[in-house]
Amino acid sequence: MIKPDAVENGYIGAILEKITAAGFKIVAMKYTQLSRRDAGEFYAIHKERPFFGELVDFMTRGPIVAAILEKDNAVDDFRALIGATNPADAAEGTIRKLYAASIGENAIHGSDSDENAAIEGAFHFSGREIF
Ligand code: CMP
Repeated sequence: MIKPDAVENGYIGAILEKITAAGFKIVAMKYTQLSRRDAGEFYAIHKERPFFGELVDFMTRGPIVAAILEKDNAVDDFRALIGATNPADAAEGTIRKLYAASIGENAIHGSDSDENAAIEGAFHFSGREIF
């Protein structure tokens, strides 16, 4: 997902360019906005964290871009491309280093495992039989 901060700041094009230049194929993509229920469901694993309310507020405040990407070793390669969760810790040239402002508003989300990629892909693109 390209998150609301990056969409607001006009970075959709630049981020997609980095993703495709890194060899990812865009299998599905949509511009949409999450409801509070959607965001709560997507981030249910963080429900007990102190930042959960802030995360839901942020993720619902404007449009996002959701995409399913394909590549060999996609999960690890995408996490390397986007950089550390906290942009202050992200490597030079990573998407979060370039386009994110804080740990809470960190421009982009990537799945942390193939299993979660399947769950998160189905969340955004229910009905697609691509897995
Ligand atoms: P993401 O990779 O989408 O997964 C969970 C999100 O929670 C994370 O990116 C951040 O946007 C957010 N998050 C993680 N830690 C914190 C924190 N300490 N304070 C605020 N938001 C956080």
